[in-house]
Amino acid sequence: MESPSALAHRGSIPWQGLLLAASLLTLWSLPTTAQLTIESVPPSAAEGKDVLLRVHNLPGFLGGYVWFKGQSVDSDLQIASYVIDAQEIHPGPAYSQRATIYPNGSLLLKKATLKDTGNYTLLAIKGNFQGEIVTGQLRVYQPVGKPALRASSATVAEQKDAVVLTCLTNDTGISIRWLFKNQILPHTDRMKLSRDNSTLTIDPVRREDAGAYQCEVFNPVSSRKSDPFRLDVYYG
Ligand SMILES: *[C@@H]1O[C@H](CO)[C@@H](O)[C@H](O)[C@H]1NC(C)=O
Ligand SMILES: *[C@@H]1O[C@H](CO)[C@@H](O)[C@H](O)[C@H]1NC(C)=O
Repeated sequence: MESPSALAHRGSIPWQGLLLAASLLTLWSLPTTAQLTIESVPPSAAEGKDVLLRVHNLPGFLGGYVWFKGQSVDSDLQIASYVIDAQEIHPGPAYSQRATIYPNGSLLLKKATLKDTGNYTLLAIKGNFQGEIVTGQLRVYQPVGKPALRASSATVAEQKDAVVLTCLTNDTGISIRWLFKNQILPHTDRMKLSRDNSTLTIDPVRREDAGAYQCEVFNPVSSRKSDPFRLDVYYG
């Protein structure tokens, strides 16, 4: 049998080793924890609204910034450069009056257009003329229009008939959901939805299906509902 003190002593060696390993790990992983990143605020921009490309974890001792449209440092697609000391913006070939660069490097795009969708690259120039580059994505969405609901029939017989409801929209890149009596439609095994949710088939209908249906079209920046459509179910 070993004495408790011998156990405690032997146990202390791996404990110290772990501490040492942890301190080495911290030192080693430090550079990757503070990566330069671009965040779109809001994450999905609405057409006509302002959007900020916010820059995080800038290195210290910076001389200035250059913003480019696209995924690379391409002088033809330079939006503008900013000199920090002078607080001056120098427009580039891809400049628009709607763009502003803040002293902290963030790029504001006022009244975003669908064409603003794409990648943006920031070159942060350090005092020693070395640079750091990061690319971020911006998505601009058009607010959706009001959809229309079309039905195969407004009056159906219980257990005998089927009804097909179709959500009509001119918008693309949207999602569709169905509402029944102002609530998300509870799905039953008599209901079938098309892959894109635009068509709802109820087969056969039952008396509890009677009531007001709406479809709702949405994307990350907006949503619109159709006018309610009233389904009548007769029985007996
Ligand atoms: C940079 O400045 C702008 C304007 O003052 C501000 O909205 C934004 O949050 C700032 N960005 C960061 C990362 O602090
Ligand atoms: C932006 O960059 C991503 C990732 O590299 C790429 O998949 C995408 O096609 C680019 N978007 C545009 C609009 O160029």
